[in-house]
Amino acid sequence: MNLTNKTVLITGASGGLGAALAYAAAARGANLVLCARRGERLRQVAARARAISGKRADAIRIDLTQPDQLDRLLPILQQKVGAVDVLINNAGVGYFENALDLPDEKLRQIMRLDVVSLIQLTQKIGLTMAALRRGTIVNIGSQAGKLVTPKASVYAAAKAAVIAYSNGLRMELRPLNIHVLTVNPGPIKTEFAHIADPTDHYAQAVAAIALDPEQLAKKIIRGIERDLREINAPWPMELAAKLRTFAPGIADHLIASPLFNRK
Ligand SMILES: NC(=O)c1ccc[n+]([C@@H]2O[C@H](COP(=O)([O-])OP(=O)(O)OC[C@H]3O[C@@H](n4cnc5c(N)ncnc54)[C@H](OP(=O)(O)O)[C@@H]3O)[C@@H](O)[C@H]2O)c1
Repeated sequence: MNLTNKTVLITGASGGLGAALAYAAAARGANLVLCARRGERLRQVAARARAISGKRADAIRIDLTQPDQLDRLLPILQQKVGAVDVLINNAGVGYFENALDLPDEKLRQIMRLDVVSLIQLTQKIGLTMAALRRGTIVNIGSQAGKLVTPKASVYAAAKAAVIAYSNGLRMELRPLNIHVLTVNPGPIKTEFAHIADPTDHYAQAVAAIALDPEQLAKKIIRGIERDLREINAPWPMELAAKLRTFAPGIADHLIASPLFNRK
């Protein structure tokens, strides 16, 4: 898909990977619809994207975990921008706490944002793409969904759900000329790590291997243009996830050991 003049909707675009995706898509000539809760930051990202592309970049404030706000999004989109060509389900949150201690509120936040709202938004936009027989849906999963570590069991369960959902969706939508790309990154240098572990122990432990959001965003935009099926980075984590399948018992011990477990 050539992104020039296409409309790309990015959730979680007020910072981190979402903002980097906005700039990378703008550099390829796309019109943008940017969604998140923090309006001021969203408007700043939209302004910078417009400066890059000279094209449209609309900012829509929305809490994706609120079903009534999600219901209002489609009419707003139809009025403002018309059809969405590329949906990037990027908004996500994780909290790194032991499974038995995770407060109910955080459990619901992870599942509502990372899984339920992603599926609901995909249904809404997917139906409009199906009617036009074209489109691309990008779901940002995580290496956590393939290679779970202690303290990340609930976040990993959410991302494993995203990966499984994307695999089913891809098969269903292929006959409708709609492509589904799953992206499974390892740690990225964004605010995510501080939200997941406010002590910053995790952020410091993974600093040396964390991915650069701008580079990853460019890779994802290239993946959209080339109709890729999956992007996994960094490759050693993907290799470790594959090896885990062959020796899960040994892998459990290794991954939980201080050598690999950074949480
Ligand atoms: N960073 C990592 O290490 C890492 C690794 C693997 C996968 N990922 C995944 O990559 C994606 C992007 O994460 P990131 O690293 O860029 O994290 P981030 O910097 O924390 O950005 C998260 C984005 O989601 C938005 N968001 C949070 N709650 C929302 C809500 N209720 N409604 C609407 N938007 C909401 C935030 O905006 P507002 O607060 O303004 O709403 C923000 O724009 C996520 O799906 C994450 O799970 C991250």
